[in-house]
Amino acid sequence: MGSFKPGDPGDVRELFDSIAPRYDQLNDLLSLGLHRVWKRRAVGWLKPRAGQKLLDLCCGTGDLALVLAEKVRPGGHVLGLDAAAEPLRLALQRSSRQSWLPVGWQQGDALATGLPQASFDGAVMAYGLRNLPDPAAGLAELRRVLRPGGRAAVLDFNRADRSSPGAGVQQGFQRAYLRRLVVPTARAFGVLHQYAYLEESLQRFPTGPEQERLAREAGFSHAHHRLLAAGQMGLLELVA
Ligand SMILES: C[S@@+](CC[C@H](N)C(=O)[O-])C[C@H]1O[C@@H](n2cnc3c(N)ncnc32)[C@H](O)[C@@H]1O
Repeated sequence: MGSFKPGDPGDVRELFDSIAPRYDQLNDLLSLGLHRVWKRRAVGWLKPRAGQKLLDLCCGTGDLALVLAEKVRPGGHVLGLDAAAEPLRLALQRSSRQSWLPVGWQQGDALATGLPQASFDGAVMAYGLRNLPDPAAGLAELRRVLRPGGRAAVLDFNRADRSSPGAGVQQGFQRAYLRRLVVPTARAFGVLHQYAYLEESLQRFPTGPEQERLAREAGFSHAHHRLLAAGQMGLLELVA
């Protein structure tokens, strides 16, 4: 893991396998619990309804899939897909404590899910797109599995658009947050090298306007990148 390469599928899988047991606790700590608020915004865009079939890509330990599963009852179903086995094991543990929830888990690659075309009414991907070796291919796969008119919400850190007003302040704040809070906290949890990659992964992440363009090229009819948390996070709102 010493030579971790952001975007390398094997390294990314190994990274999330290794931090899985501490992932939820760290997420709460590093976002002061706010990741739940941002995830609620993603669910808000999706407007999940009873009977729908929804997909959570890069589901990790299943936060969003579990929320969505509650909302598609009765008659609906949610599939959580992730590349790494360990987060999925924890997701399964969580869902088996709520056995009434219509949710299933599958190990797979978000770039080539093998899921049938147009088979989902809606989809979410939280903090997944930044980890994919090819975000454009990830958006294309997301579009492929959605039925026409289906909604998707892609939540991640926002990489400030240099040309936008306030970009310098946003970037400065983000750098300070990553270096002064994330890195020391990750060090205290013994997962420093796993979190040190965050800043690097953000540097090669498309900005909001670039994400909108990539989504349109992937065939989405609507793509709007909404800033959250004073521009620290971004929610890409999509309609297939
Ligand atoms: C930062 S976690 C986010 C987990 C969850 N969505 C959340 O918001 O709490 C990113 C997840 O993406 C998964 N991932 C990375 N690359 C992937 C790929 N190519 N296909 C599927 N999952 C992938 C990782 O295994 C990890 O669980």
